[in-house]
Amino acid sequence: MNPSTRVLTGITTSGSPHLGNYVGAIRPALAASRTPGVESFYFLADYHALVKVTEPARVQRSTLEIAAAWLACGLDPQRVWFYRQSDLPEIPELTWLLTCVAGKGLLNRAHAYKAAVDRNRIGGEDDDTGINAGLFLYPVLMAADILLFNAHKVPVGRDQVQHIEMARDIAQRFNHLYGEHFTLPEAAVEQQVATLPGLDGRKMSKSYDNTIPLFAPREQLKKLIYAIVTDSRMPGEPKDIDGSSVFQLYQAFASHEETAAMRQAFADGIGWGEAKQQLFERIDGEIAPLREHYEALIAHPQRIEQQLRDGAQRLRTKYATPLLHELRAAVGLRDLGAITIWGDGVVELPALQVSSYGKATPLPQFKQYRERDGKFYFKLVDGERVLLQSSGFDSPREAAQWIARIKQEATQLRHDANVGIHLGDTLVGQMGELAVLEDLVGALTALLADGEP
Ligand code: TRP
Repeated sequence: MNPSTRVLTGITTSGSPHLGNYVGAIRPALAASRTPGVESFYFLADYHALVKVTEPARVQRSTLEIAAAWLACGLDPQRVWFYRQSDLPEIPELTWLLTCVAGKGLLNRAHAYKAAVDRNRIGGEDDDTGINAGLFLYPVLMAADILLFNAHKVPVGRDQVQHIEMARDIAQRFNHLYGEHFTLPEAAVEQQVATLPGLDGRKMSKSYDNTIPLFAPREQLKKLIYAIVTDSRMPGEPKDIDGSSVFQLYQAFASHEETAAMRQAFADGIGWGEAKQQLFERIDGEIAPLREHYEALIAHPQRIEQQLRDGAQRLRTKYATPLLHELRAAVGLRDLGAITIWGDGVVELPALQVSSYGKATPLPQFKQYRERDGKFYFKLVDGERVLLQSSGFDSPREAAQWIARIKQEATQLRHDANVGIHLGDTLVGQMGELAVLEDLVGALTALLADGEP
């Protein structure tokens, strides 16, 4: 298994990169990518963009700008995975597999969907007026983005934390039904400056139209910063840092000491003009070199296109295609030629194919079936090996009760090794033949450790 931590994040390609994206996603993600032992995945979430944007040229433009922004900010496509969501057909394919295990009730609770419904209610409309199914399924598509690469950590803004939790829930449910295929992801919210305020003081977001473009030319950047809404306190009057966009923006770009000095300046009554000037200098100081790089990159869109395609291609070969192969088999989308017919029409399935990086190993399992003698049997198999073979029962219910009892005893066995002997005696008494006890106990323990009830 890969020992590194996989960090993954995406940006929806529905607008121009802004300072909020930079502080909330790009900067922390790139910093994390330089940590040893981290394997990073950064991608352009262009399928997500289609949920909101129906202007094709805008999606294209945004994809180019965001790609150039990540590269300009220091992303090295040879060191981290950099790709475009729509270049991986495995993502929509996985989305469907996950859609079929995601609870509709879970999706009903998604903030973005709920907010849209609430707006309709307030407007006296039908609940779902104007809401496309893409918005409803948005969290599932996002879960597919994350789970396809078994990401451990997902750097996102606070507003996205619920989506990561949903990805966990969906992964858990899938694992429960089909075996341990997915790592459960965790959101990583930068504590200091998780969300940046925009020009009007609300969260900086394209949907509020209050953003400061990341690569606005110097003069425009200055104008925008001067346009940030403040209260009307005069120079000399002490100012609150709480709820001040100017202060919060400053803090996002300044060191500890600079921030402390600014806090003091607020208390001492720094004028808004002066505070904004310092804010501008601080932001421009960090952004100016990146802006230059950005302009050079965006002049050659075909190079960016090539880099994205290359990233996707390598990722598919290394991870996405093998995982989907494994998942298709896990859910039953299988090669029909590989079936063996047992006894009374009972189908024996071949052992799972497991890719080199997937977590899944074929767990031992109980199989119930009916034989030609009309009786009901079960066995415990571990891959090809039969560890336990029952005698015949008159009803499937009896067989199921035995399986339950064995699992029950094996649960205790995890806490008390002596129960193993007891279990062995019981089984030999009732079942007749028995494989090596240790193997049996090992298999049962693995089965139960996997969360099987
Ligand atoms: N929904 C995220 C946003 O709006 C973008 C996104 C799509 C994403 N897929 C993702 C983020 C997977 C992290 C992981 O910000």
